[in-house]
Amino acid sequence: MYLATMSNVENPTEKTLAELGVHTPEEVTTLFVELREKANKEQRWIDKPDKFEQFRVKWIGRKSGILAQVTENWLKPADVDLKRIVGQVLNEFRSHLQRLVDQAQQGLDVRAGQAADVRERVDLSLPGVIRPIGSHHLIRQVFQQIEDIFVSIGFSVVEGPEIETPYYNFEALNIPEFHPVRDDMDTFYLELPKGAAVPLLLRTHTSPMQIRTMEKQKPPVRVIVPGKVYRRDNPDATHSFVFHQVEGLAVDTDITFCDFTGTIDYFVKQFFGPSVKTRFRPSYFPFTEPSVEFDVSCPFCGGSGTAAGGGTCSKCKGAAWIELFGAGMVDPAVYGFVNYDAKKVSGFAFGIGIDRLAMLKYGIDDIQVFFQNDVRFLRQFP
Ligand code: PHE
Repeated sequence: MYLATMSNVENPTEKTLAELGVHTPEEVTTLFVELREKANKEQRWIDKPDKFEQFRVKWIGRKSGILAQVTENWLKPADVDLKRIVGQVLNEFRSHLQRLVDQAQQGLDVRAGQAADVRERVDLSLPGVIRPIGSHHLIRQVFQQIEDIFVSIGFSVVEGPEIETPYYNFEALNIPEFHPVRDDMDTFYLELPKGAAVPLLLRTHTSPMQIRTMEKQKPPVRVIVPGKVYRRDNPDATHSFVFHQVEGLAVDTDITFCDFTGTIDYFVKQFFGPSVKTRFRPSYFPFTEPSVEFDVSCPFCGGSGTAAGGGTCSKCKGAAWIELFGAGMVDPAVYGFVNYDAKKVSGFAFGIGIDRLAMLKYGIDDIQVFFQNDVRFLRQFP
């Protein structure tokens, strides 16, 4: 008897059973067994996704996969007496192919997982990744030192907006529109849409927070205000268009000029060390009366004006004193703007330039280094 097998017929699934000379159920079963073995063999060679895909398309591809051909060529045209058995074996064959595909897919997944494990294996002998840890900027550190000193004597810390109205930056501080001190502070106004209600500017000092604080609370007031301020200054070793201040304000029913100078002296000694001395000289600010300028004895030459190795001290230029900051007793006119009774309250205010203070304390001779953020500078102040 002639029995069709795949070994002697090319592409048997492209022919019908009749063309293959298959007429009995046994012959049908044999045909499928051979097909199954071929599929098994090919499946074992799958080691990569592209081979898997080839296998899948070849065997169960919807259009021209072998499974589709078998249905088309073997099942559909089969004689009535063979159709049942072909249908049955074809169903088993279909499940078998699906199993082969699933197994192959799993095999690939496992391989991929193993490869990833190898790739991602942690080698504890390798040097680690060194991530540099940042630290507080020197200006922030100095803010902190100042806050600590004032908080320890009963002040609290408040902050305010860097964009101000002329009312808070000037008028309420007793600086009317055409007052000459505005020239010093001629500054950055914001470009606003036409019809904006009030002009806005970058604050030129932290003093507007004196007003905002007193508007909000009744005496007693004891606050300090750290923050950035802006002026139209050309950058050089001692000037920058942005710098930092700490404003201070104390208002109560019985604050005297002695409380004022005592507080400043205490602060300066805490900040620079107990051996420095302070002094004040008359000065002028529209919102303080009297106004003073505080000096500290030069911390570099011990207030002698002479350098350690002889000659003039380069820091104070032989003057023995270094100008520190402006301050004064709150001008009674200012109380009028915040509804405080000028007859009942008194107080003092000061405005410390932080950059300058930091430069003095740490011997830094160029204010620009604070803004350049060169890590070689920053690392010196961890
Ligand atoms: N606001 C002043 C300035 O920036 C400093 C100051 C503050 C003076 C408080 C007196 C009182 O120059």
